[in-house]
Amino acid sequence: MIAVEGLVKEFKVYRRRDGLLGSLGTLFAREHTTVRAVDDISFEIPAGARTAYIGVNGAGKSTTIKILAGIMRPTAGRCLVDGIEPYRERRRNARSIGVVFGQRSQLWWDLSVPDSFQILRHVYDIPEPVFRRNLALFRELLDIDALGSTPVRKLSLGQRMRAEVAASMLHDPKVLYLDEPTIGLDLVLKTAVRELIGHVNRELGTTVVLTSHDLGDIAAICDRVLVVDRGRLIHRGSLRDLLDTAERRAVVFESGGPRPAAEIAAEITARLPGARASVLEGGRVRVEFATAATTSRQVLGFLLHHYDLRDFYAPEPGLESVIREIYAASAASGPPPRRAGSSRPTAAA
Ligand SMILES: Nc1ncnc2c1ncn2[C@@H]1O[C@H](COP(=O)(O)OP(=O)(O)OP(=O)(O)O)[C@@H](O)[C@H]1O
Ligand SMILES: [Mg+2]
Repeated sequence: MIAVEGLVKEFKVYRRRDGLLGSLGTLFAREHTTVRAVDDISFEIPAGARTAYIGVNGAGKSTTIKILAGIMRPTAGRCLVDGIEPYRERRRNARSIGVVFGQRSQLWWDLSVPDSFQILRHVYDIPEPVFRRNLALFRELLDIDALGSTPVRKLSLGQRMRAEVAASMLHDPKVLYLDEPTIGLDLVLKTAVRELIGHVNRELGTTVVLTSHDLGDIAAICDRVLVVDRGRLIHRGSLRDLLDTAERRAVVFESGGPRPAAEIAAEITARLPGARASVLEGGRVRVEFATAATTSRQVLGFLLHHYDLRDFYAPEPGLESVIREIYAASAASGPPPRRAGSSRPTAAA
């Protein structure tokens, strides 16, 4: 459904110098650096797949999605979505895709949600039964009727996001690009949005491309991941494989014995190679360990042997920590080669 080959997007960033002379100087010199936001990325996504596009802030996720959605032209390389180049045939492309940018509204600011939906119905020429079916679905899962006739600009972030997600799906798109679609949503609504995405994927075979910093979103929605780091694709595979690459794991338990938790934590840190234990609120002990030094089996064996385990659980490794590890591994194997003239953004990215 989506084929991306050698995709590159560069932005020219003009330097601002301090003071009046500086800004006058900028007028003439137009000094700039080039930020390579997307750096030679290639991947394929089959129809019906649910793919997470993961990376830290500034990694190039939104830029890639803007190109895929036809909003931006690449500097080099190309992509095909359902057989067309999105930025060349924007109108045709728009019919087969739905987009949510959590950080930017796609709705008409001064219109109410029902009015926006009516406009979209005409723009996309949505058949009456499809429109009705989808409205019923959004009512049921997102409670969109509760948004009433308030103009979008007066909605809360969570209310607006419900409308954005619904609007992106109104015309049964073949591909859904969701760039942080659960931003600002409480847990109940996050769950509802995840359910809705799963529903259209199952029922209509919708291809889903998601970016999110929320592991819950990714775990609930996606089965495969692409990890980007400074514009480069550094990992691709199933979600399970990604979590399994976590080099540090953790277990948390409560000890039933009389010994103070702090003492237990100190003992574990001293005796288990590569492990670090700390006391959490409520006296539970958290043991973090490097899988390279100690296996989960050894840790469990040690804990079972020495303590009276209660309320034992192993939290999933956090997405951010998994990504950090992948980045560290990628950095260790050498930074991606830079081309002359391009520079990387630093802390601002
Ligand atoms: N219009 C633009 N002009 C100049 N630089 C840009 C522009 N858009 C993005 N960039 C730069 O490109 C890089 C990638 O940005 P992008 O928005 O794609 O990151 P992201 O992975 O979506 O990050 P986040 O998780 O914060 O949303 C950043 O360094 C950003 O500053
Ligand atoms: Mg982004």
